[in-house]
Amino acid sequence: MQWWRDAVFYQVYVPSFTDSDGDGIGDLQGIRGRLGYLELLGVDALWLSPIYASPMVDNGYDITDHRAVDPVWGDLDAVDELIADAHAHGIRVTVDLVPNHTSDQHSWFRAALASPTGSPERDRYHFRPGQGVGGAEPPNSWRSVFGGSAWTREPARDEGPGEWFLHLFSPAQPDLNWTNLEVWADLDKTLRFWLDRGVDGFRIDAAHGMCKQLDGTPPSSDDDPRFDQDAVHDVHRMIRATLDHYPERVAIGAVGVRNATRFARYVRQDELHLAVDTQLAASRFDAEEVRAAIEDCLNAVGSVGAAASWLLSDHDVSRPASRYGAGPVGTARARAMALVQLALPGAAYLYNGDELGLPDADLPDEARRDAVWHHGEDSRDGCRVPQPWEADLPAYGFTTGEPWLPIPDDYAVLGAAEQLEDTGSTLSLYRRALELRREHPGFQAPPSPGPALEWFGAPPGCLAFRRTGTTLVCALNTSPAPVPLPPGDPLLVSGPLDDGMLPPDTAVWLA
Ligand code: BGC
Repeated sequence: MQWWRDAVFYQVYVPSFTDSDGDGIGDLQGIRGRLGYLELLGVDALWLSPIYASPMVDNGYDITDHRAVDPVWGDLDAVDELIADAHAHGIRVTVDLVPNHTSDQHSWFRAALASPTGSPERDRYHFRPGQGVGGAEPPNSWRSVFGGSAWTREPARDEGPGEWFLHLFSPAQPDLNWTNLEVWADLDKTLRFWLDRGVDGFRIDAAHGMCKQLDGTPPSSDDDPRFDQDAVHDVHRMIRATLDHYPERVAIGAVGVRNATRFARYVRQDELHLAVDTQLAASRFDAEEVRAAIEDCLNAVGSVGAAASWLLSDHDVSRPASRYGAGPVGTARARAMALVQLALPGAAYLYNGDELGLPDADLPDEARRDAVWHHGEDSRDGCRVPQPWEADLPAYGFTTGEPWLPIPDDYAVLGAAEQLEDTGSTLSLYRRALELRREHPGFQAPPSPGPALEWFGAPPGCLAFRRTGTTLVCALNTSPAPVPLPPGDPLLVSGPLDDGMLPPDTAVWLA
């Protein structure tokens, strides 16, 4: 059964979901205590951000042991208990996997620094001599995704000038060398370790990374020798071959590749099951842009017979309720886009807190914790603030201690408990949408060849579509004026209709 083709995944950003032990940071027992909520919400699977041993320079994306749980989140028993309980609630559990890099505190990297140039220990990473006088310049001009050079020079050594090591992210995240067979064997061990414990799959971080075109040979991708090299597909085939020994497990890639043809290569029959589209999250609230993003992704995955998967937000981008505009307009648009996302054919990813309509938090500089992100003025903290559960509790029920990021006062009216009681809340909208998606016959499509989606004519600034073979139509109005509803009975509307018309910043499902 290919359960993931149509599944709704819920991303738990573990530090910010629920804290069970009062240290102010979310943890595994905290998640376990919220499984009733997640079942009520109606999601099919969780995606947990990294839970592995880490010095937390990048909130767990810098890993010292891929097969150990960091004590801040709990321990292996807590993982086992969470998986068992989630399964009892009918929810599957997928976990983040970070194959591109380790922490600079990983035993391998420490050993590399302690070993001579050319040693097998160094070969697990990318060490190169510097350029210029005394090797004082980086080996090449590559930039890190987080800003600055992608190379850092190791401290001077007895045997001569230190080499430089490659890190596509922060200097605390040295890149592994994917031409080294030990690196492959270790990932295979990690996959089996977690699969044997019962995880239902992996979200693979930077799945278009890993293989680089270093040392002068021309790159195989169009323009970036750091990413999307042909060799990475061998890594995904290896991952897939391992997963295929475990029934019903899924590999999902965070594939940051814009070119549709190259994106599609990641979801060929023997590679990843799903690749998360990022174009929808990058689109403005504009019907044409949204439609182009949807068409691009569907054409890409359709060309290799894979299912699409849609994401509006995650722990790296501004939340929809802020990104599409400030205040009530942003909220209305985020609600409308949720209906678009959940009507599309394929899998969907929700980011914790989006179901509450949380805006980004405007944090004072001294409270910011994301030290590794240098895109202009932004940090990613604003979208990572802890989840509010109940207005009357200290820290809104997230923790009995001091939350690791301050929770803004305007989250008080967005708590889950209050929203569950309010039929007009964003949480109620998500619950109803997920229920309809699961149960309404208008969503059930018989398998059919050809395009997964049919577009209908729509006024300028609007779009309307349905999944091929179904009766459920979704219409979105991004224009400044109300427009007539398409034919059909409205099943769910993201905001009030205006005299029977679809107002601006609103989406509707009709059957
Ligand atoms: C993750 C980021 C992380 C980066 C480096 C991205 O794919 O989503 O949060 O900082 O990889 O691991």
